[in-house]
Amino acid sequence: MKNIPILYLILQWLQITMEQALLESLISFLGEGTQHRMNEPDDVKSFLPKYDFIIVGAGTAGCVIANRLSENPDWNILLLEAGISENYLMDLPVLVSYLQFSEANWKYKTMPSEKYCLGMDNHQCNWPRGKVVGGSSVLNYMIYSRGNYRDYDNWEKMGNPGWSYKDVLPYFKKTENFSIPTDYDQDYHGSEGYLSVGYAPYRTKLSEHIVKAALETGMNYVDYDGKTQVGVSYLHLSMKDGLRHSSSMAYLHPVKRRNNLHFRKRAMVKRVIIHPVSKQTVGVEVVLGGTTYTLRAKKEVILAAGSINSPQLLMLSGVGPKNHLKQMDIPVIQNLKVGYNLIDHVTVGGLTFLINENISLVVVRLYPNVELLFQGGSLTSDPLLHRNYGVTRENYKAVYGDIEDRHSYMVLPILLHPRSRGRVALKDNSYKSKPLIYPNYFAHQEDLDTLIQGIKQAINISQQPALQSIGTRLHKTPIPGCRDFEFGSDRYWECHIRHFPFTLFHPSGTCKMGPKVDGKSVVDSRLRVHGVTGLRVIDASIIPQINSGHTAAPVYMIAEKGSDMIKEDWGVL
Ligand SMILES: Cc1cc2nc3c(=O)[nH]c(=O)nc-3n(C[C@H](O)[C@H](O)[C@H](O)COP(=O)(O)OP(=O)(O)OC[C@H]3O[C@@H](n4cnc5c(N)ncnc54)[C@H](O)[C@@H]3O)c2cc1C
Ligand SMILES: *[C@@H]1O[C@H](CO)[C@@H](O)[C@H](O)[C@H]1NC(C)=O
Ligand SMILES: *[C@@H]1O[C@H](CO)[C@@H](O)[C@H](O)[C@H]1NC(C)=O
Ligand SMILES: *[C@@H]1O[C@H](CO)[C@@H](O)[C@H](O)[C@H]1NC(C)=O
Repeated sequence: MKNIPILYLILQWLQITMEQALLESLISFLGEGTQHRMNEPDDVKSFLPKYDFIIVGAGTAGCVIANRLSENPDWNILLLEAGISENYLMDLPVLVSYLQFSEANWKYKTMPSEKYCLGMDNHQCNWPRGKVVGGSSVLNYMIYSRGNYRDYDNWEKMGNPGWSYKDVLPYFKKTENFSIPTDYDQDYHGSEGYLSVGYAPYRTKLSEHIVKAALETGMNYVDYDGKTQVGVSYLHLSMKDGLRHSSSMAYLHPVKRRNNLHFRKRAMVKRVIIHPVSKQTVGVEVVLGGTTYTLRAKKEVILAAGSINSPQLLMLSGVGPKNHLKQMDIPVIQNLKVGYNLIDHVTVGGLTFLINENISLVVVRLYPNVELLFQGGSLTSDPLLHRNYGVTRENYKAVYGDIEDRHSYMVLPILLHPRSRGRVALKDNSYKSKPLIYPNYFAHQEDLDTLIQGIKQAINISQQPALQSIGTRLHKTPIPGCRDFEFGSDRYWECHIRHFPFTLFHPSGTCKMGPKVDGKSVVDSRLRVHGVTGLRVIDASIIPQINSGHTAAPVYMIAEKGSDMIKEDWGVL
């Protein structure tokens, strides 16, 4: 892969001139040739009659769990993944927006709405999810950010003993091989973990201007995962040697030779088999090359299929809201609020600032309720970006058409603590049907008001001397659907937000962790599904209340901690 710049230019050219279908097949074709297959455990040829543990999903959490459970040589582990092998193209940060057009994405969309995603095709926002070994850690932007210590103290207060910041910090440290040389708080970081975390290998001049401007507003430079978490910082990224460090590279590749770890790709789990009377988990049904197999688990099945697919699988298996399952013609085994409590970090897309120079990249500023993510370049700099989000061609042309050749940056104000909750539901009782996703953005006016404040803060920073010195100004072409409002007024921004809510790709909470009395929880504080024996969920779906950071870091922590809980519960730790 020495010809990356050339490859990138070819892809750029092709994607401008080609139809989407052609682009997708080209990406798949290039991908097939550059697979990491040889670094992964081999696909198992024949299955054992029984495994101790079956893990569903070799995603961000699944690879961690497979690694940790197979540390015990007395256990046989089976890891099943619906997607394909990760490939070398996927490791190149510069290609990140292409991956969403490949078969490594489940390509989910939200249900059409009259209240949000108004600027998108058919009023639907795209919700990409990784369908690949490594899961969403292969598609993501590699930002590593844990959130505030209060987030985790709050998880504990919600009735989850063992999840306070003091309890989870050792697991954050256990994950990390942190390589930021200076300016960080050593007590908060690990250097022996599997996942490499560090600064980007290069830094642009714009990012220096932005950090300087933030300092000029009176903020401090901080290690946002350290002691003082509010301030400005360059991003911490899960990268190694300038390349993406995915969960599969970090956790799965190093253990490929363990004989007690069986692995299978392109293996789509249809449902978990649970005895309807004893409610004991028996195993899973999985489709491989068109044939359905029944595989048995002696001890436990662990769902690590992510925030959309884990609730889908539970419901297909008879664990979910009673009435909904009846409507879907699925026999009810356990009545639980599966799929509710869907929380996402929603941001405002398209807030663009023009600058005089074409220097760019990314930094973060944190507030208690809003994070401002500065992105060097804007929707116009990467011709695929607006298509990633599903922005209509008309809106794109009307608002950004005249600044395509201009230097710019974009700020994404992120709503860290949304009050609104959405839901994932089944369409029918087939594992092949995509689940229905209702993000229910802005059901609370407060969520809109907070984002409007975030927009104003971003404009404020743009007026600081360091950014004024490069001629920074807000791009003021209104969105056609918002022309009735005075540009820059609160009502204008509300309209803008409803048109361009960009997901930060953090759906969580759909198999909420909490005590049974809470009435809305799906798993207990040891991640066991309420009322069912031998079944856990360990992934982003158990997050009871979203963290004020990004979600990959807590998913690694949850997977490390969940693996230790399993070892404790089976008496090997
Ligand atoms: C485009 C994008 C950008 C992002 N950027 C960032 C970022 O910069 N920083 C950050 O912190 N977070 C980011 N995130 C979010 C973060 O990556 C996720 O929160 C996290 O990876 C979720 O981990 P998970 O283990 O819950 O699920 P996943 O990693 O999605 O893993 C689920 C796995 O289960 C498999 N699976 C699902 N159903 C089945 C089935 N029926 N049978 C077999 N296998 C199945 C899937 O194929 C997948 O491999 C981003 C996400 C995306 C998509
Ligand atoms: C941590 O990263 C450094 C630098 O890449 C590497 O030399 C070291 O071996 C890594 N440590 C572990 C435990 O992987
Ligand atoms: C940046 O600008 C310079 C001079 O205007 C130009 O040569 C260069 O190609 C530009 N780079 C990008 C990435 O647009
Ligand atoms: C903008 O910044 C100034 C200080 O530079 C501050 O006094 C003002 O409150 C800020 N406004 C907003 C909306 O953040």
